[in-house]
Amino acid sequence: MSQPSLAILVLAAGQGTRMKSDLPKVMHRLAGKPMLGHVLDTLKPLAPDRVVVVAGPDMPSVEEAAKPHAVALQRERLGTGHAVMAARPALADDRFDTVLVVYGDTPLLTSETLARLVEERRRTEAAAVVLGMRPAEPGAYGRLVLGADGMLEAIVEAAEATPEQKAITLCNSGVMALDGGRIWDLVGRIRDDNAKGEFYLTDAVAIARGDGLGARVVEAPMEELAGVNSRADLAAAEATLQHRLRARAMTGGATLIDPATVFLSTDTVLGRDVVIQPNVFFGPGVAVGDRVEIKAFSHIEGATIADDAIIGPFARLRPGAELGPGSHVGNFVELKNTKLGAGAKANHLTYLGDSEIGENTNIGAGTITCNYDGFDKSRTVIGRDVFIGTHTSLVAPVTVGDGAMTAAGSVVTEDVPADALALGRARQVTKPGFSAQFRAQKRADRQK
Ligand code: UD1
Ligand code: MG
Repeated sequence: MSQPSLAILVLAAGQGTRMKSDLPKVMHRLAGKPMLGHVLDTLKPLAPDRVVVVAGPDMPSVEEAAKPHAVALQRERLGTGHAVMAARPALADDRFDTVLVVYGDTPLLTSETLARLVEERRRTEAAAVVLGMRPAEPGAYGRLVLGADGMLEAIVEAAEATPEQKAITLCNSGVMALDGGRIWDLVGRIRDDNAKGEFYLTDAVAIARGDGLGARVVEAPMEELAGVNSRADLAAAEATLQHRLRARAMTGGATLIDPATVFLSTDTVLGRDVVIQPNVFFGPGVAVGDRVEIKAFSHIEGATIADDAIIGPFARLRPGAELGPGSHVGNFVELKNTKLGAGAKANHLTYLGDSEIGENTNIGAGTITCNYDGFDKSRTVIGRDVFIGTHTSLVAPVTVGDGAMTAAGSVVTEDVPADALALGRARQVTKPGFSAQFRAQKRADRQK
């Protein structure tokens, strides 16, 4: 083998019956991203020459999420060895020195651990190197049977294990690096004459040892290897992942006053000296600049927030929200597909959608951009240094020029030129004494 070359198989054909879901198991989300996406992200730093996702039939969402990688369909679910065989056509050119097998439902694995496994396979030229773990409850996991020399002799599934083997605490995580030159010979000899009537990939180890080839174990912390089989497992994996993401945010210089209540996405970017109050949710695609303060109970996704902005409490930033430096978005304010200029403020009870707001403009309480007519969305463009009066309805498409004002309670349907005042409301009528007369009349009526 002149050039080391790595192929990775991601086994994801299981529907995940215990999830009790219409969604394939690997499409369930952690930190806003399907588990399969997490696994594929973890593979990137290994720079694999090919990745093949093994999916079941009727899993279009898995095929879509696997892109741009190849997908091999395993039409019948006959075991992990059978799943690996299903990927053979996608690896037919045989130029891989190592084939790494990972599971799509083990989303917390790190790139470092996988790199260690591949490195051990290459260094020792073993036929198989298995990632081992020591769970508190070995339960249904396969047991790793070691020889006196520390070599891996066999993997015994719990269903077939003798009482002595069941007492082994070193278990199979399922992740395995195989010699690319021997994989098809080894896996091709696996039989299904066992308790479950399945082709166990794990049998490749004993077959290799029978041929006099080497097999080894690399251990990794249990926390990385937790598999997701149920909703409870999914919640536990989410907790582990959130713990990691919060730690990363704090290491990067953000203050999380109550970290356990802040939910992050894997791609959340937080600047230095950002302060996040309790109960803030970050969906995918959020980037936050330096010294930004995000107050309690804010929900943010697909938004870019520049330095020194102040958000919340109770703010909602939806995709396409772009907040300029030093801008303020206050309580019960929603922004969607809206650019808020530097120093601009929308502090209370407001909806700004499909709009652009210039620098230092003040949006009064209760302002609404009427951006949707039931069919189409239209834009509202507001210049700089504008004063939008309280409770203004801006009926889009509409433009308000620099330095203009709108009167409180206006419904603005026509463009407002720069420096003008727009009044769009009924003129007030005042009737002196009316209220007193009204009350007197009502009281007199009651005496009758
Ligand atoms: C497997 C291992 C076991 C290990 C455990 C770790 C075997 C025989 N056993 O058992 O030693 O301790 O994982 O979690 O390998 N899959 C397919 N097609 C199939 C069967 C499985 O794609 O036909 C995929 C599943 O979607 C899943 C993974 O392979 O992602 C593991 O399958 P699963 O049935 O959960 O294996 P276990 O019985 O848990
Ligand atoms: Mg399993």
